[in-house]
Amino acid sequence: MNTIIVLALLIFSAPVLAQERFTPEQREARYYYDLGPKAADVTSYPKEQQENYQIFAKTCSQCHTSARALNSPLVSREDWRRFIKRMHARAKMRAGAAINREAAQAAIDFLAYDSQVRKVKDKAGFAARTSELKILFAEVLRERARIQLEEDKKKVQEPAPYTGVK
Ligand code: HEC
Repeated sequence: MNTIIVLALLIFSAPVLAQERFTPEQREARYYYDLGPKAADVTSYPKEQQENYQIFAKTCSQCHTSARALNSPLVSREDWRRFIKRMHARAKMRAGAAINREAAQAAIDFLAYDSQVRKVKDKAGFAARTSELKILFAEVLRERARIQLEEDKKKVQEPAPYTGVK
């Protein structure tokens, strides 16, 4: 009896699953790195970097998730400095978001250190995760395009609203 229920559930939920494999958040990804983990395991990092990580996580998830920085290909301190300057300009334009000087410095320190550990020392591991994310991103883009197409089709099928004017 139970098996039948399970089978029935599987059959009826399959089309729904096939239709939307990704969450709305995943579908909004702008870069492949948005699709990676939003947190880093910093338990083996020096205490100072663990504190910087907390500041980074709070400061750099105001507009996008921390995944964008954690899984991005950026590595060098110079690159991080340059990009965070750009984020700073964005923050000034967006009400409610803020990156102050100390927070920016803590984020740069953390990202430069973390990039060495996870992206440089473990180069092969990071490269493998990067290719997985790129494949996933291609699939997200395909799903996004398909959903968009379905929405466009629906719009065409809906009759124009009656306005009283002929
Ligand atoms: C005020 C909103 C805002 C905040 C706060 C913010 N970002 Fe961004 N970030 C953006 C936007 C918008 C983009 C999209 C690309 C662009 O406009 O530069 C972006 C893109 C990025 C990218 C990808 C750039 C690329 O071209 O590959 C990285 C990496 C990044 N942000 C890191 C950070 C870090 C690190 C912090 C914290 C210091 C941060 N962001 C804080 C808005 C923000």
